[in-house]
Amino acid sequence: MKTERLAVRIVNWQRTKGRNHLPWQHTRDPYRVWLSEIMLQQTQVTTVIDYYQRFLERFPTVNDLAQAHIDEVLSLWAGLGYYARARNLHACAKAVVHDWHGQFPETAAELETLPGIGASTAAAIAAFCSGQRAAILDGNVKRVLTRHFAIADDITRSATTRQLWTLAERELPTKAHTSAEPDAMARYTQGLMDLGATVCTRAKPNCSACPLQSSCAACKLGKPQSFPVKASKKREKPTREIDLLWLTCNDHVLLEKRVARGVWGGLWCLPVSTDLAMELKLGNPQRMASFAHELTHFRMVITPWRLAVDWQKKHFPAVSENQRWIKTTELGDYGLPKPVRVLLGDGGKR
Ligand code: ADE
Repeated sequence: MKTERLAVRIVNWQRTKGRNHLPWQHTRDPYRVWLSEIMLQQTQVTTVIDYYQRFLERFPTVNDLAQAHIDEVLSLWAGLGYYARARNLHACAKAVVHDWHGQFPETAAELETLPGIGASTAAAIAAFCSGQRAAILDGNVKRVLTRHFAIADDITRSATTRQLWTLAERELPTKAHTSAEPDAMARYTQGLMDLGATVCTRAKPNCSACPLQSSCAACKLGKPQSFPVKASKKREKPTREIDLLWLTCNDHVLLEKRVARGVWGGLWCLPVSTDLAMELKLGNPQRMASFAHELTHFRMVITPWRLAVDWQKKHFPAVSENQRWIKTTELGDYGLPKPVRVLLGDGGKR
């Protein structure tokens, strides 16, 4: 029996077995598609859904987002992590409004010139919104391709990435396919993502449910989990220890806006030093139990130091420009790093 091209099998599989009811599907509005794709980079669908809906309620159009203050954008993003995405999101909305008259460009090549949009995301947006034949290559797709073609080269090498881009482009639906089925590119793109997320998973691939099983080299070898190959050994993450000054005054807490670059850039955090307590001659903060917080490139060990001072509001000590006394009931209006939000007892908010 003739084996159909990968694209034909993926498109047919997606129609019946793929995910077809996600909130960002069934629209060709590039603003919505773009927003979902940025949120879905490094973040699970189940986490993204609420954020996506809240975000759209507050910023229904790219114009609304472009006009917003970055603090509000970060506050709606708080908890999703990788905050550079939120800063780029805001910069991208401004670029669309100022450089593209408020309309997202259509081609993948043009989309890729915008802040925060890489080649794969640009292709996904172009495929979903206008059916362009553009290849995606995210982590899930790399896994599907390295398994199907049993590519044993180190996935972290740029030569392997180039090889995978070539394959991803080669396997796109043909022009005849997309002419016959106008939704083929959107389905194919979604199908690849769905396959990687639900069938060809990292630890437990469900090969018997896979539309590519009959031609999958890794499955034939009986060891799909051994692909992709990552030669570089995982190094231990470095540890960074930080002290946080948890200074409260009645129902206010002192927070400090962090500089835009670096960890938790632009978010509101407890001051990362206890020196302030000394400077303001407030007394000795009490050391609390340390706890660990995992970030992508390092592990943070956080030690909070707590000090409650007792003044009337008008007697709050002066603080520098980037610091603010914030009412605890109003913390939800600020973008806080997740461990700080949890520490302050506001963890259930998002
Ligand atoms: N991951 C990245 N893009 C996605 C999409 N459109 N649907 C589901 N998961 C995704």
